[in-house]
Amino acid sequence: MTLPTATFGPTGLETTVIGLGGMPLSIQGRPDRAEALRVIHAALDAGMRLIDTADVYCLDDDDIGHNEALIAEALRTWSGDADEALVCTKGGLSRPGGAWETDGDPEHLRAACERSLRALGVSAIAVYQLHAPDDDVPFADSVAALARLRDEGKIQHVGLSNVSRAELDEARAIVPIVSVQNRCNPFDLRAFEGGVVARCEELGLAFLPYSPVGGGHGKTRVGDDQILIHVGQAHGASTYEVALAWLRRKSASMFPIPGASRAESAESSARAATLELAAEDVARIDAHVGFPA
Ligand SMILES: NC(=O)c1ccc[n+]([C@@H]2O[C@H](COP(=O)([O-])OP(=O)(O)OC[C@H]3O[C@@H](n4cnc5c(N)ncnc54)[C@H](OP(=O)(O)O)[C@@H]3O)[C@@H](O)[C@H]2O)c1
Repeated sequence: MTLPTATFGPTGLETTVIGLGGMPLSIQGRPDRAEALRVIHAALDAGMRLIDTADVYCLDDDDIGHNEALIAEALRTWSGDADEALVCTKGGLSRPGGAWETDGDPEHLRAACERSLRALGVSAIAVYQLHAPDDDVPFADSVAALARLRDEGKIQHVGLSNVSRAELDEARAIVPIVSVQNRCNPFDLRAFEGGVVARCEELGLAFLPYSPVGGGHGKTRVGDDQILIHVGQAHGASTYEVALAWLRRKSASMFPIPGASRAESAESSARAATLELAAEDVARIDAHVGFPA
């Protein structure tokens, strides 16, 4: 698989610097299928080549794989070269009655991975991420399950999500890890404060900040922020684009994955890949959000 632009992890996989988060296309409030396909095609047409998904991006346990199947259909029907796209999915949660619960049981992970292979219509998943550690299952057991799936060729690369720096190191002792996906945006700096971003950078891993513009609820804060508005005005950019460009400036390991349920949002996020903030802009946002020195 040969992809343009920046390096994704230490493995030689390459992708664009900003990807599409698939979640808003498949959860409560999702657009209809034709519109959802249009959003993914718009993201691809705008140059995005990384798509983040999960088996649980759906309404409930009866709808598992909705987002993966949608992405597979979008890639099949896209006018461009679908082989350029890197699809990263996840296992390790369930959606009973629409709730979000962890399930890191090795047997669940195996069944989930096999179901994701079918939903995505591939013989191997490019990057399979453990969605979150499960308090009821030893973390090492969940990671070892992914290591076995990798040994069997069902997974090309293993990623983690919602992990601490210590958990990243624990997992690396079991299987090579290419990426970490944690919540991170200008108003949620825990991934920086806890050292996860720095550790990814040291190790040459990709860090995928999720909810990079604040998530479904927090996006209003980014949208209305006066400093982000002001910085954006000088560049003809929206506050969301400024937030994404600011994240990219924080580490060479950063690959934001903004979600979108509208094509306009995906096109805007793709534009942020080429938005270069001035050093004064970055310093101003740092001071405003209390970025750790
Ligand atoms: N690993 C995990 O536990 C985890 C948890 C949450 C999310 N994720 C992943 O991370 C992705 C992103 O997180 P998220 O979807 O929660 O939050 P987000 O990316 O912060 O975005 C949420 C909403 O903000 C709007 N938006 C995004 N970019 C925009 C832009 N450039 N201009 C205008 N509006 C914009 C979109 O609105 P519209 O819907 O109106 O287009 C989108 O639905 C998800 O899609 C999913 O793939 C992972």
